[in-house]
Amino acid sequence: MNIKNVSVIGAGTMGNGIAHVFAQNGFSVTLIDVNATQLEKAIATIGKNLDRQVAKAVITEDQKNTTLSNIITNTSIADGVKKADLVVEAATENTSLKLDIFKQIDAAAPEGCILASNTSSISITKIAAATNRPSSVIGMHFMNPVPVMKLVEIINGYATSKQVTNTIIELSKQLGKTPCAVNDYPGFIANRILMPMINEAIYSLFEGVAGVEEIDTVMKLGMAHPMGPLQLADFIGLDVCYSILKVLHEGFGNPKYAPCPLLCNMVTAGKLGVKSGEGFYVYTAGSKEIKVSEGFL
Ligand code: CAA
Repeated sequence: MNIKNVSVIGAGTMGNGIAHVFAQNGFSVTLIDVNATQLEKAIATIGKNLDRQVAKAVITEDQKNTTLSNIITNTSIADGVKKADLVVEAATENTSLKLDIFKQIDAAAPEGCILASNTSSISITKIAAATNRPSSVIGMHFMNPVPVMKLVEIINGYATSKQVTNTIIELSKQLGKTPCAVNDYPGFIANRILMPMINEAIYSLFEGVAGVEEIDTVMKLGMAHPMGPLQLADFIGLDVCYSILKVLHEGFGNPKYAPCPLLCNMVTAGKLGVKSGEGFYVYTAGSKEIKVSEGFL
């Protein structure tokens, strides 16, 4: 299957990163979001991230300009997917929203178009069942920051065809990524393993075993993780961690996946990490410096 035109739905952090890597690798990208302001912000973010790559001599100024010229935007799903060979959905992690979006894509995308979701934990089989082409629906789970992280977790739904899986594996390689194919069970592999670790770090803080910096330092220096689990939770978004843990908890019916009460409280209080300016740490816009949130000192 020859993929040239890629439509990306959702212009948030993941959507703009996904659009960035496809455009940088020569694909024609349509970035779709109902919110025109969000689209403008996304293009500005892609520009800034490309500038970093230019500054680090990863790409040239010409490559930056070509990448930007490979992206157009659209506020309509129906219009934005009508020429797509592949649609990658990267909307908010909400099951009913994703099912609704997939129904819209299915109605408007050409026959033969592959429908992928960047979901971090929602069942691909369930998403596929909302369409009339379940064999063409697959999970394509990129990691944040998308231009930097090498992995694409490829999730085979119950009905995903082998041909579609092979196409997406080859495509991920064309993007310079390393694909890893897994089957469709709650949290797949990435979050089935990552989220219990993050939840356990939050429990360690909740139970007073150690402070925020100590927990993160142990995991950074002791296990060579680039970020400690609490900083990583802030980076991912505490609301996202919470909803993934709920998917694991409900999907397996095992209490070991229940989100820590401290995480539940922080999400209820709107302390969502980097995106809200505070989680386990406090973040100041435009500054790389972070400090532990006063509540944990
Ligand atoms: N676009 C392009 N380049 C970027 C970038 C972006 N958005 N963000 C960072 N970079 C580049 C920088 O330019 C820099 O490049 P060089 O190596 O060439 O110098 C490099 O990445 C490192 O960035 P920084 O120097 O700014 O900062 P750092 O060294 O602290 O690294 C980090 C930042 C890459 C985010 C690193 O801390 C890291 O790898 N953290 C862990 C990230 C992780 O685990 N991601 C997965 C989260 S889970 C997920 O996404 C899925 C899910 O379902 C929840």
